[in-house]
Amino acid sequence: MTTWSPQSWRGFPVKQVPNYPDQAALEAAEKRLSSYPPLVFSGEARRLKSQLADVSRGQGFLLQGGDCAESFAEHNADNIRDFFRVFLQMSVVLTYAAAVPVVKVGRIAGQFAKPRSADTETIGSEELPSYRGDIINDIDFTPEGRYPDPARLEMAYRQSAATLNLLRAFAQGGYANLEHVHNWTLDFLKDSPQSDRYEELSGQISNALDFMRACGIDPETTARMRTTDFFTSHEALLLGYEEALTRLDSTSGDYYATSGHMIWIGDRTRQPDHAHVEFFRGIENPVGIKCGPSLDEDELIKLLDIVNPDDEAGRVTLIARFGHDKVFENLPRLVRAVQREGRSVVWSCDPMHGNTIKAASGYKTRPFDRILGEVNGFFDVHEAEGTYPGGIHIEMTGKNVTECTGGARAITDDDLSDRYHTHCDPRLNADQALELAFLLADRLKRKRNGTAVATSDAAE
Ligand code: PEP
Ligand code: CO
Repeated sequence: MTTWSPQSWRGFPVKQVPNYPDQAALEAAEKRLSSYPPLVFSGEARRLKSQLADVSRGQGFLLQGGDCAESFAEHNADNIRDFFRVFLQMSVVLTYAAAVPVVKVGRIAGQFAKPRSADTETIGSEELPSYRGDIINDIDFTPEGRYPDPARLEMAYRQSAATLNLLRAFAQGGYANLEHVHNWTLDFLKDSPQSDRYEELSGQISNALDFMRACGIDPETTARMRTTDFFTSHEALLLGYEEALTRLDSTSGDYYATSGHMIWIGDRTRQPDHAHVEFFRGIENPVGIKCGPSLDEDELIKLLDIVNPDDEAGRVTLIARFGHDKVFENLPRLVRAVQREGRSVVWSCDPMHGNTIKAASGYKTRPFDRILGEVNGFFDVHEAEGTYPGGIHIEMTGKNVTECTGGARAITDDDLSDRYHTHCDPRLNADQALELAFLLADRLKRKRNGTAVATSDAAE
């Protein structure tokens, strides 16, 4: 293998890159970025890797979620806070059920660049470059909007810094204090079926906290009860941006991507002999690899050989995203290959990207029951193979959007136009995200009690 450097990916074929007309402006922007402060520290990435190593041994559960694509337009404190609240609620529901630590990783503070199925989009007789995420161009279907503008790299960097700043304050500054467990419910959730279940659970947690306080253990004396670890992640698609934020860690002498704690390779850019895999092999962060139906077993093992040659626990999370009807056909063969080769990985389930359909109304949507179908299938397969279902990866928001159909409030095709705000794929709204957390909690609880039974009806 050739010598790795932060720019060695430039010598490899690369997919899903924008075509920047102004190369000089791009180089200047990347050069400035390379002198800016890191967004995250290598020590934090190592901490996440060690928590994921625990997950790979069945001693934890990974909760990873956030927007499909962050946008400049929706960047405000309310959106970040509402996302964080629902995420904390989900985390509490899962921790209580699984009785293991929940590793919290947002798709946030850097999740801007999007792979697209076509380079251009045509409306009527006009053909323009596809929207590739706010870090590259604008969603507006105009020639100016779709122009890949290098100035956007720095806007995305600054937005990520501001988002991370608020998240760090929420995680460390008292907002995540377990004694506030009742206050995390968002107003519009108050009359939802999930909120009754959540109230019941937070009542139990409060009782436990009262008991512990009586025993002399409380948030004032025990920092872990008033703070939480929260990590960031995104798809490292735009390699020029990633390269500019890759830094040598003086403590370990290793390179780290400092654009986020964890980064992942998308399903469309995971070719072993291409640029994205080359970039990933040289950085020490925990990384994800999306696994879709076209990934064969040998190729997966080859990817693990390249990205994790020493089989370090916590280094690789395999994010399975097959679709509710394809999970039984595809997941077992990959799980078996990983077992056969004795590799240590975290298996996580992305039940979103294999379940996207076009509704009769024309909107891209994801039926909630298909999402649940894939989650159940994921658990069923791991149960059958004797392996550990280690996490969930979802697109979600703290807002009351109408983007995925179904759920307890039964969003229909006709409702989609009410509050369809996503810049890319349809997200679970706060209600659906919490409902999913309760369903996951049931599966995890059954697993813990050794009473797991196959629940999926899609197993044939
Ligand atoms: C995504 O996570 O937004 C995405 C594009 O996923 P995938 O690479 O699995 O299609
Ligand atoms: Co998406």
